[in-house]
Amino acid sequence: MRIVKVPLGQRSYQIRIGAGLLPTLGRECARLGLGARCAVISDSNVAPLYAERARESLSEAGFAPLLITFAAGEQSKNPRSVQLCYDELAAHRLERGSFIVALGGGVVGDLAGFAAATYLRGVALVQAPTTLLAAVDSSVGGKVGVNLKVGKNLVGAFYQPRLVLCDLDTLRTLPDREYRAGLAEIIKYGIIYDAALFRMLERQMRPLLGRDRKTLARVVARCCEIKADVVQQDERESGLRAILNFGHTIGHALEAISHYGKYLHGEAISIGQVAAARISSEILGLPKQQVERIASLLRQAGLPCEARLTASQREQLLSAMALDKKVTAGEVKFVLAKRIGTVEFGKKVPGDLLARTLGGGKKLRWQDAAGILASGEARTRCISAGSVTSEQRSQAPKEQGRLPP
Ligand SMILES: NC(=O)c1ccc[n+]([C@@H]2O[C@H](COP(=O)([O-])OP(=O)(O)OC[C@H]3O[C@@H](n4cnc5c(N)ncnc54)[C@H](O)[C@@H]3O)[C@@H](O)[C@H]2O)c1
Repeated sequence: MRIVKVPLGQRSYQIRIGAGLLPTLGRECARLGLGARCAVISDSNVAPLYAERARESLSEAGFAPLLITFAAGEQSKNPRSVQLCYDELAAHRLERGSFIVALGGGVVGDLAGFAAATYLRGVALVQAPTTLLAAVDSSVGGKVGVNLKVGKNLVGAFYQPRLVLCDLDTLRTLPDREYRAGLAEIIKYGIIYDAALFRMLERQMRPLLGRDRKTLARVVARCCEIKADVVQQDERESGLRAILNFGHTIGHALEAISHYGKYLHGEAISIGQVAAARISSEILGLPKQQVERIASLLRQAGLPCEARLTASQREQLLSAMALDKKVTAGEVKFVLAKRIGTVEFGKKVPGDLLARTLGGGKKLRWQDAAGILASGEARTRCISAGSVTSEQRSQAPKEQGRLPP
């Protein structure tokens, strides 16, 4: 088993990664001194596979677990589901000392996490991720929330779990397409932070696709270390944490204009990362050969690298970017790579370059884009145009356990 620490003072916690960990859930919760009542929140795919194991482990450790299950899928990640959670939690008299276990992928983690952050002004949360994406990304770092009709993740909180328990055995039942989508986030960590990880992925993609346990444990742990390192330095995304959004500005917009139906999140951000790499080449001088390595690794992982868009779809894409939470004063800021392993955030991208990168005939002028952006209604939150570069980041103390080149 590997343990990654997320050092956040009193809110510090462990990420425990390994095979066969679900049966240790109860013991670990007892070790943390969590209260007797608890709820396991899961979805309709995951609960039949793993809820019993989780409940058994909790019961054996003396807890009284309640199971709350939602229909699987992004459409369940909404305020109505949270309300249903509150009703169940209250009906079963969960108290301030009680806790919630989020057993599932990112949808369950975000939804159950938001319920935990707000029920009785906050009860303890344990994340038990069962997708690759949740293991390396959504279960770590404390972002929880739900979608509104106008956009994704528009209601939420920063709320750190008390423990992340990542049982790699649960990834065995994950559908192939979902598994590959998780690889997009893993590749992202190599691009934004760790060239050695990127090289290792180039060499080890085959065993990784084969879900080889050892490779998986090593890679998941390294990604969690990177996320922990970033979150430790900028928990509330006032600067550095924005680097985790590499490829997400275009990716999120692509998901939105296809009504979250065509692409999985990882697939959309795979396309977004290739676009961001091309833009990086123009603005920060990312060598063309590295752009090709990025595209090639994503392709090797079975992920799409581009979306064919009509002129009207490209306009829709820009409108959707206007609704992105990371819009400041009508300007979309990008995370761009200088080279693999080093990125900068808060970078302005000229509209014509963006339009060219998104491909196709008719050029969109940035003024058009700016007009679209200025009319964005769902701009609920801004980040400052941070100037912390990854050079500054790399001077910060590092967690141990880097992968060998
Ligand atoms: N909070 C964050 O920091 C953060 C970061 C990235 C993404 N997210 C959010 O995560 C969500 C996407 O998460 P996801 O990709 O895990 O999707 P998901 O939770 O919808 O899971 C994908 C599918 O796999 C199924 N599944 C999950 N585990 C399984 C298993 N072990 N075996 C078989 N089937 C299984 C689920 O039922 C679902 O159908 C999005 O809502 C996104 O906004 C949050």
